Amino acid sequence: MAKKKIQSAFFCQSCGTQSPKWLGKCPQCNEWNTFVEEVLSKESDSKGGFKSKKATKPTLVSEIDYANERRIVTNDKELNRVLGGGIVPGSLILLGGDPGIGKSTLLLQFALSSKSKKILYVSGEESEKQIKMRAERINKNSEYCYILTETSTQNIFQQIEQLQPDILVVDSIQTLHTAHIESSPGSVSQIRECTAELIKYAKETGTAVFLIGHINKDGAIAGPKILEHMVDTVLQFEGDRNHVYRILRTIKNRFGSASELGVYEMNQEGLREVSNPSEILISERDEATSGVGIAATIEGARPLLVEIQSLVSSAVYGNPQRSATGFDTKRMNMLLAVLEKRCGFRLGAKDVFLNITGGIKIDDTAIDLAVVCSILSSDQDVALDTLTCFAGEIGLSGEIRAVNRIENRIAEAEKLGYKQIIISKYNKFNAKGFNIEIVQYGKIEEVFRLLF
Ligand code: TYD
Ligand code: MG
Repeated sequence: MAKKKIQSAFFCQSCGTQSPKWLGKCPQCNEWNTFVEEVLSKESDSKGGFKSKKATKPTLVSEIDYANERRIVTNDKELNRVLGGGIVPGSLILLGGDPGIGKSTLLLQFALSSKSKKILYVSGEESEKQIKMRAERINKNSEYCYILTETSTQNIFQQIEQLQPDILVVDSIQTLHTAHIESSPGSVSQIRECTAELIKYAKETGTAVFLIGHINKDGAIAGPKILEHMVDTVLQFEGDRNHVYRILRTIKNRFGSASELGVYEMNQEGLREVSNPSEILISERDEATSGVGIAATIEGARPLLVEIQSLVSSAVYGNPQRSATGFDTKRMNMLLAVLEKRCGFRLGAKDVFLNITGGIKIDDTAIDLAVVCSILSSDQDVALDTLTCFAGEIGLSGEIRAVNRIENRIAEAEKLGYKQIIISKYNKFNAKGFNIEIVQYGKIEEVFRLLF
C-alpha cells in the first residue's frame, strides 16, 4: 500500500496567499505575521465534496435558457430590496456581521417564513434544541424549513441529495470542514475549500446558498478576502448592539445594485422590518429644544432623515472635550474650526458633544449643515424650527456646497411633513412638483443670520 504523503503549506490568514515556506510579511496584502502552517492532503477525490454530474460544453449565449431563473421573492421585503428584488437561484450570498448582531436570527426567520420553497438550515454553531428555542421565540413555524446540525460538508451533501432543498442556509462557513483538507475548521484553506464545494453545488443544481460569515476585529469578514471574491453577493448586517435598529447593507451584488439598504428593528419576537426608517430615527417631541437639527441624508440608495443632537457647554477642565457618536470626530473638529474662523463663534473653550440618534453611523457629508446648525443652536440656546431640515456640505471657507441626489432628499423631507428645507445655492434641481419651501444659501453666515 502506498504511504500517505502528508503535505503542508503556509497560508496568509488575512488574504489566503499560499506559500511553501513561512514568511514574516505577506507579499500580497503586506500584513505582518499572518502565515500559519496548514496541513493539506489532497489525496483522493472520492471522499467528501459535491460530485459533479455533468460535464459542461461551450454554449452559444443566445441558446442559454434562463426562463426558469426567476428570482425567488421572499416574504421579507427588506431582504428582497438588498438582494436587488429577490434571490437568484444558484447564487451564493455571504452574510457578515459582528457576533450577536442577529445574523442567525435573520436567516432563521427567513427560513421559517417560507411558504413554498424547501429550505435547509444547516447549523454548526447551535444544537437543534437551541434552534427550536429561537424559533419559538420568533414565533414562527414552517412546513418547509428543515434543520440539520452538521459541520462536515460530506455529510451535508449526503443529506442534501435526499432532501433536494431549494435554498440552503449555512451557519456559519467558519464551522464547516471538508474531508479533503486536514487543517482545522475556520482556517483559510478549509474556508476556501468548503466555499468552493458549495459554489460548485449551487451552480450545478441551481440552489441558492446563504453563508453566514464571522467578522474579525477590523470589521472584515474573517477568513480570506477571496471568500468575498468567490461569492455572488456580500451582505453586511450592522448596527449598535445596544440599540434596537439593525442595518442590512449590500457590499457586493452581481445581480443588482450594491448600494441598497434594509432596516430592521430587533425586539422580543426577533427582527421586524422597518419600511419607513426616517420615522423611527427622529424622536417624538412636542416642543422645540435647542441643539437638535434634522438632516436629509442618503444611506446607500435610500433617502433618510436623521436627527442630530448636540450639547455645547463651558469646559470645566482646561482641555475642552469633543466627542461625536455616529459622526466622524475629525470632521466635527473641522466644522468647529470653520465656525470659529468664518463666523466668529468662540467655541474653543467649550465642550462639544454630538450624537446621531438611533445608533446609526452616517458618512454622508451632506449632513454638515445640520451638524453646524445643531451645534450653534445649542451654543446660543435657541431652538431650530421643528419643521425645518437641512442638506448641504460645508467647505473650509464656510461655503455651503452642493450635494448629490438633492431631489430625493427634498422628496423625503416633504413626505415626512417638513415645511422647509435649507440647501446650497449651487444645487441645481427641478423644483417642479415640490410643495415644501426650498431655501438656498451660499454661505454659512447667511444661514445663521436667518436662524438666530
Ligand atoms: P444572533 O442571531 O444569535 O446573532 P449572531 O448569529 O449574529 O451572532 O442574535 C442574538 C441576539 O439577538 C441576542 O443578543 C439576543 C437578540 N434577540 C432578540 O433580541 N430577540 C429575539 O427574538 C432573538 C431570537 C434574539
Ligand atoms: Mg449566530
